[in-house]
Amino acid sequence: MPISDFSTGLRCRLCDKLYAKQALNFCKDDFGPLEVDYDYEAISRHITRSKIEHRPRTMWRYRELLPIEGEATVGSQVGGTPLVRADRLADALGVQRLWIKNDAVNFPTLSFKDRVVSVALSKARELGFKTVGCASTGNLANSVAANAAAAGLEAYIFVPSDLERSKILGTSVYGAKVVAVNGTYDEVNRLCTQVAFKYGWGFVNINLRPFYAEGSKSYGFEIAEDLGWRFPQHVVAPMAGGALIGKIYKAFNEMVKVGLVQTPVKTKMYGAQATGCNPITDAVKSNRERHKPIRKPNTICKSLAIGDPADGFFAAKLIRETGGWAEDVQDHEIVDAIQLLARTEGIFAETAGGVVVAVTKKLIDQGKLPRDEEIVICITGNGLKTQDALYEAIESPIAIAPKLEAFDALLDQPQEVLV
Ligand SMILES: Cc1ncc(COP(=O)(O)O)c(C=O)c1O
Ligand SMILES: [Zn+2]
Repeated sequence: MPISDFSTGLRCRLCDKLYAKQALNFCKDDFGPLEVDYDYEAISRHITRSKIEHRPRTMWRYRELLPIEGEATVGSQVGGTPLVRADRLADALGVQRLWIKNDAVNFPTLSFKDRVVSVALSKARELGFKTVGCASTGNLANSVAANAAAAGLEAYIFVPSDLERSKILGTSVYGAKVVAVNGTYDEVNRLCTQVAFKYGWGFVNINLRPFYAEGSKSYGFEIAEDLGWRFPQHVVAPMAGGALIGKIYKAFNEMVKVGLVQTPVKTKMYGAQATGCNPITDAVKSNRERHKPIRKPNTICKSLAIGDPADGFFAAKLIRETGGWAEDVQDHEIVDAIQLLARTEGIFAETAGGVVVAVTKKLIDQGKLPRDEEIVICITGNGLKTQDALYEAIESPIAIAPKLEAFDALLDQPQEVLV
């Protein structure tokens, strides 16, 4: 029996007005962002833990809580990444219970963006789009290009022209049309809004954004399920547009609403950004309701470099309301943290992961994250994509002749030479 679509429409987050399901991301009355609305009553009658546990370990085991008619037609293998108990990193940071939700190994393009793209492109097909696109800081570009290729959709990908080479190459390789724009992400995004409406294409994070953003909930569902159907006390999440952090929290609350978890959500949410582009953390720290846009982001963490985040207001509000906090870190702290994570846990994260680990360290040192409570940190992208950030920090190995004496001589040197 095909699974029906339990979503009922798109609701304005400001005035609550309900719209029919369509490619639209803003309320026509007040320009408020639209969010997918569901019939939770019907869902709670339909799903159980056991039903979910018997399904394949992908994000689509939560399909009743995702806004798609029937089975996903794009990205059906996405999600189901490991939740790793990180004892060695916990020791290094001086905390007792630490977990890493590791989307650095998400299929197929090694970031959590495959989750949002899987939903957005499945919806794009449902709505009849033949051409899709996105404005991206890199990971979304990779994911839309790969998933569109696999689905036989034409893709136009717009990125700031100063993006990391491997993020551009990892987009073009899939045959997508990559448009490098001489401007910031916010300028790219504005251009894409005009393109989407002029040409009638499905831009995953513009006119399809309400559906797209729902994909991030699966990251939260999996955390709770893997903890044994319960919620952690603290979650540290990276923020660019500010959607992921809110959707993790929405996911936890939906699990209570539909009866998958009985205890109410008490999780405190913490947001992480780079100091070179910190509109949301700055709003939280200076107790301002609305963020001040950053006109010219300047950080090695390009994936989080959104100066005027679409969900910034809601992310800051959530952080405040849950009793969490927000912090930002300098580029050298990001580089150190990438290495700390790699050397303690064997996980190579991209710069956004460095931001999360460095911010976690800072919040622990400040006493904002308690040392004896359970913390989940969100690693959302793979370090192989942002190697440029590390070349200066990591020394090349010393080359030797293929002779045992040469190796003996190398071992006789002070050990720190052998990096
Ligand atoms: C690796 C990585 N982590 C986190 C984020 C932040 O996601 P959001 O825009 O939902 O805040 C991004 C966004 O591009 C990203 O690329
Ligand atoms: Zn409205």
